[in-house]
Amino acid sequence: MTAAIGSSEHTEAEDIVRELITAPPQDPYPLYTRLREIDPIHRASVGDFWTLTRYADLSAAVKDKRFLRDPVDMQRRHIKNATINYDSPFFQSMVNWFVFSNPPEYVPKRAIYGSAFSRTYVETLRPMMVGFANDLLDAAQQRGEMEIVKQLGFDLTVRVISHVMGVPLEDSHLLVDYVAMVGGTFDPMVTPGWRQKADEETIKLEPFLRDLIAKARKNPGDNLLGRLITLDETGELNEDELMANIPLVFAAGLQTTTHFIGNSVYSFMRNPDQWALFLTDPDGLVENAVEELLRYETSVLSEAPLRFASEDIEIGGVTIGKGEAIVPFYGAVNHDPDRYEDPQRLNILREDIRTLAFGGGLHICLGQFIARLETQVALVQLAKRFPQVHLREGEAPVWHKQITNRSVEELHVRLS
Ligand code: HEM
Repeated sequence: MTAAIGSSEHTEAEDIVRELITAPPQDPYPLYTRLREIDPIHRASVGDFWTLTRYADLSAAVKDKRFLRDPVDMQRRHIKNATINYDSPFFQSMVNWFVFSNPPEYVPKRAIYGSAFSRTYVETLRPMMVGFANDLLDAAQQRGEMEIVKQLGFDLTVRVISHVMGVPLEDSHLLVDYVAMVGGTFDPMVTPGWRQKADEETIKLEPFLRDLIAKARKNPGDNLLGRLITLDETGELNEDELMANIPLVFAAGLQTTTHFIGNSVYSFMRNPDQWALFLTDPDGLVENAVEELLRYETSVLSEAPLRFASEDIEIGGVTIGKGEAIVPFYGAVNHDPDRYEDPQRLNILREDIRTLAFGGGLHICLGQFIARLETQVALVQLAKRFPQVHLREGEAPVWHKQITNRSVEELHVRLS
């Protein structure tokens, strides 16, 4: 059921979605709870899409192949009646992102990128990740303290993603500037000024990317770029696609994982009983602990209206009309009491989690295995090296107020 337009539930739900979009609070979870209670499938006129807050509904929606992607449609729904400059450099690059294609074209494209992020391949990176994490912890040991988000989350993630993609670490800062901008373009309240920044960063990146691709053509490495170049030469990809998708994948992987590592350490610091439990067997407990942390405090709370209905589709008893779009509220779904008992509690022994924090279906997160493994490695090394880690005295970390991403700005800890 959905609340009737004009009813008090519909009006209240509309206010909640507006608040989440325009003035996201430090803690959005109480708003998610209320929205799920009063209108779990809400037709949000503030952004021209339906919001989903129940696990069962989202689980059905992500698997439904009748939801398709369309970058023009997505942009138009961000802010109703916004003028879009389809000739802008950023938009021209964005339409080449493989994530906007649909079957049948999508499937082989996804397979190309997927090869660099398969579970088996990612597992081979484990020793390298452990080495990176230990280098960062060695440096921190000398200081006796660490700012987790930057000095562990970011510094580990940027090394891993640069390696996987074939971007020299010393050049990665150019992509990092781009990443800082691209996230904002997925915010439903994206402004014309932000779009202009997106264009500037896209133009700024072009010479670097052309040079990177030219070098890789001469000497393709054993990395994603090297493989993409080979495919380009057989005509399966073109230069515009390469130029667009290298920064896209880099962007999708960097902030999400950086922030998830920060959120995970902070979650443990707020739940010392769970940290104490984790310390009893970090290697044995870490896999399930990370699944639970993805549920408890994921870094991706929602996304742009990426899925639109190609025909009338029924979800949870509500018809999503042909041409209408849905927005998953992953944060809300993760805390759905109909799916998870005592959802506000961190319980690293929780069973049968089957997370939706990476979405699902055809478009399930490309980087899910790398994100999991990186976080597992970071937590295990931290636990083994610094079991006594604790928040710096008087420290009250501040959450970024965002609709799509969730992250603490800084997380200062003492290591002993
Ligand atoms: C904890 C870290 C991460 C979280 C919580 C996360 C979450 C998500 C979510 C919710 C989606 C949407 C899936 C859907 O629409 O069904 C997604 C898609 C995606 N993610 Fe991640 N992600 C993370 C890390 C990464 C990493 C490390 C990479 C790449 C290296 C990555 C690359 C992507 C890409 C390319 C897509 C689009 C896939 C497609 O549409 O085909 N993500 N992610």
